[in-house]
This record gives sequence, structure tokens and C-alpha cells, in this order.
Amino acid sequence: MYIFMKIIIFLIVFCSLSLVSSHPQSYNAIFSFGDSLADTGNFLLSGAMTFPVIGKLPYGETFFKHATGRCSNGRLVIDFFGIKAENGVNFATAGATAIAAEYFYSKNIKILWTNISLTHQLGWFQEVKSNICATKKDCREYFKKSLFIVGEIGGNDYNYPSFLGGSIKQLKALVPLVVETIIEATSVLIEEGAVELIVPGNFPIGCSAVFLTIFGTTNKEAYDKHGCLKAYNAFSKYHNAKLKLGIENLRKEYPHAKIIYADYYGAAKRLIHSPKHYGFSNTLVACCGGGGPYNFNNSARCGHIGSKACLDASSFTNWDGIHLTEAAYHHIAKGLLNGPFISPSLTFPPINQI
Ligand SMILES: *[C@@H]1O[C@H](CO)[C@@H](O)[C@H](O)[C@H]1NC(C)=O
Ligand SMILES: *[C@@H]1O[C@H](CO)[C@@H](O)[C@H](O)[C@H]1NC(C)=O
Repeated sequence: MYIFMKIIIFLIVFCSLSLVSSHPQSYNAIFSFGDSLADTGNFLLSGAMTFPVIGKLPYGETFFKHATGRCSNGRLVIDFFGIKAENGVNFATAGATAIAAEYFYSKNIKILWTNISLTHQLGWFQEVKSNICATKKDCREYFKKSLFIVGEIGGNDYNYPSFLGGSIKQLKALVPLVVETIIEATSVLIEEGAVELIVPGNFPIGCSAVFLTIFGTTNKEAYDKHGCLKAYNAFSKYHNAKLKLGIENLRKEYPHAKIIYADYYGAAKRLIHSPKHYGFSNTLVACCGGGGPYNFNNSARCGHIGSKACLDASSFTNWDGIHLTEAAYHHIAKGLLNGPFISPSLTFPPINQI
């Protein structure tokens, strides 16, 4: 475990951020925490034993032309941010949960992909810190002008029990602890000197091919007019509402900090509401998969034998049934940075339109 941590800390730095040192309007650094929505290679570097296919094509086929460890055909939201910073460290790890793995094991919920949680990522941050700044005062000065992105995280805390057939009632019971863990991590960072932080909410999971496949039903009432599972989208909204409440409280506790909520739900939902407007012809069916009504087949997931990728991933929002395509992430990043899905706005937004 120790060696594994060292590898992650010292080798993984953003390679995709625009690194501009001369521009005065930039952050000192960006520190990113989260799961597969923001992982630019950590999980693959750790071996990705439980999801090895992210290390080969068609993962990465569109933009990089080779697999990078990103759970998509190309770039992620964070790659599109184009926010100027002199430095960046990404701790996000695919499969990571907010709550510690031990909790899930104690409830007999099998962790499917990794035991890494937000707490581990905070631990790596502490280690990195010693390489960045020497004294507490130096660190606070440095972090004051850095941007911290805490998430998206928590999605897997709900995915794991759901994939085992857990009910929405069970998921709801997890929300207070998931939200508390995210809020606690955010306050730890503020105590370290972070002043500007983005805390994203969760996606509309009721529109996700994996949820549509597992919880598909002949009851038409279960679906909204866009074909998404109402109850699961309502659950995502429930988590997001609780997270926003937690953020409100943090803002009161730390009035000097700028805690930004990123509405991933809204930014993703509009692609499903008006697909044509964004150039999509498929919003619920995965581009890469092994058959079934949503092209998600757990026995032949994207990258495994029996699966194949669609010809034009840019017309799909869903990449592998679980993660989104580069095209979807691009539009989501635009929605966040050019508005209206981020509030309040960033101190140093990207100079060029993304
Ligand atoms: C997580 O930890 C448990 C208990 O130590 C272990 O049995 C399991 O294989 C680990 N899972 C992963 C995906 O690393
Ligand atoms: C799912 O994949 C398995 C294994 O490749 C295959 O036998 C099965 O027919 C597939 N199911 C569908 C619905 O395509």
C-alpha cells in the first residue's frame, strides 16, 4: 500500500491542464479529488486490477488515440476546464468512494473496483504538501491562491449497493454519511488554507445505461418522457439537495471561503432534454458495449470480448454504460464554465472560450 501511494503521489500530475506561468490571472495550483469522472490515470497506474480494460482501446480512442486510464473515449470535464494554473495534482481514482471501504464491508456491500476513498486522497494531499511548501504559513499562502475540486465523489457509494440490487431506500440511508464525508473533507481543506473550492453534485443516474439495464421494468410509469428512471433521478436530486445544504452550512462556518457548487445534474440533464441541440442522436444507449436495449451487458462490458464501440462516439452521450463520452463531458464543462451550472463563479475563469 505504501509503495502504491508513493507512485500515485509522485508521478501523477495533470498533463492536460493549460500550464501558464506568466499569466497573472491564474491559480497557483489545482488540486483535484474524486472518482472515475476526474481520474486521468491514477487507477490504471495502481494496476486497475478490477477494471483492466481502461488500459486499452477503445478507451481513449477519440482524442488521445491510446488508452490513458481515463474512463471515456477521450477527455473528461476536468480536461476541458482550461483553467490556468501553474501546477496541478490529481488524486481522483476510478471506483473511489467518499465513505471508507471498511464501512461497506461491515454492511456486506462488496467494493467492486477499489478500496480507495476520499480519506486516502486527503492523506496523499498531506504527503504532497510537504513537497510544495515548508511552513504552515507558506502553505496557507500557496493554498489561498489555489483551486480545490472536491468531486464528483459519492457516486460509487451508491453504485456499489445498486449494482448488487440495493433499493432506493437503502441508498437514501447512505446519503447523510456520504454528504457528511464530502463536507468534512472540504472543511479539512479549508482548515489547511484552501479558500476557493468547487464541490460538484451527482449526475442524473436514472438516465445511465447501467441503471436503466439493472432496474428496467415494463411499468411505463417508472420512466420520464426522456426515457430515464424517475426514481433514480429523484434520488440523485435528493443527494444533491443534501449536499447543497451541507455547503450552505460550510459557507456560514467559513465566510472567508468561496465554496462553489457545481450542478453536474443540470449540466448533464440538458443534453438529454435537448439532444439535437447539442448534436447527440443517442442519449440513453451506450456507444461501447455488448448488447441489450441500452447496449450495456455486464457479461460483455466495453473493452471485453463480445463488446464493440459505435462508429461515431460524438453522437452518443453515454460511453460505456457507466461513464460519458468526451462529447458529453465537453458540453458539461461548457455548461459549468460558461454558465449557468456553477455558482458562485470562479475567480479566474478560463480566458478562452472552451
Ligand atoms: C478491498 O479490501 C478487502 C479487505 O481487505 C479485500 O478483500 C478486497 O479484495 C479489496 N478490494 C479491492 C477491489 O481492492
Ligand atoms: C451479453 O454478452 C454475453 C457474452 O458475450 C452474450 O452471450 C449475450 O448474448 C449478451 N446479451 C445480449 C442481450 O446481447
